[in-house]
Amino acid sequence: MNYSDKVLDHFMNPRNVGELEDPDGVGQVGNINCGDIMRMTIKVVDNRISAIRFKTFGCGAAIAVSSMVTEMVTGKTLEESVTVNRDDVAKALDGLPEKKLHCSNLGTDALKAAINDYWRRAGHPEKIVRLEDEHLEHQAKEENSACCGSNERGCRQSSDGGAAERAGE
Ligand code: FES
Repeated sequence: MNYSDKVLDHFMNPRNVGELEDPDGVGQVGNINCGDIMRMTIKVVDNRISAIRFKTFGCGAAIAVSSMVTEMVTGKTLEESVTVNRDDVAKALDGLPEKKLHCSNLGTDALKAAINDYWRRAGHPEKIVRLEDEHLEHQAKEENSACCGSNERGCRQSSDGGAAERAGE
């Protein structure tokens, strides 16, 4: 599979990895097709993302996407940040292989989920935006589960990180 130099750079040297202490918003999403999981934490100052960190249990493209998303939205307003979509990220990375385009959903949707969480906490549920992909938003309160939140669709990855089980497999 051919990856651009930018993808390889963000994969080899990912920016903003980790988790913020006492975040203002937490977003965690999972891809029901591959079982990968993305978690983003944000700090918000004056309606702008002042800090952002990500953790990814996923493929190299998902790591590069997450890293790029964090760079793209740092310092931006929340309203600007939720408009960043998977195509923007793929473009910023000088493209992704066709088979890896779905991976870019994880980064932008984890970001949207984190901002949605912030808006929920701040008492602005009317601002909540839809995620780009079908995978289900993982509520920040569900700290015990490592699953992508897609239990209703048959994914039952155990909270201790055990292998994912899928209905019918
Ligand atoms: Fe699952 Fe890339 S293969 S996010």
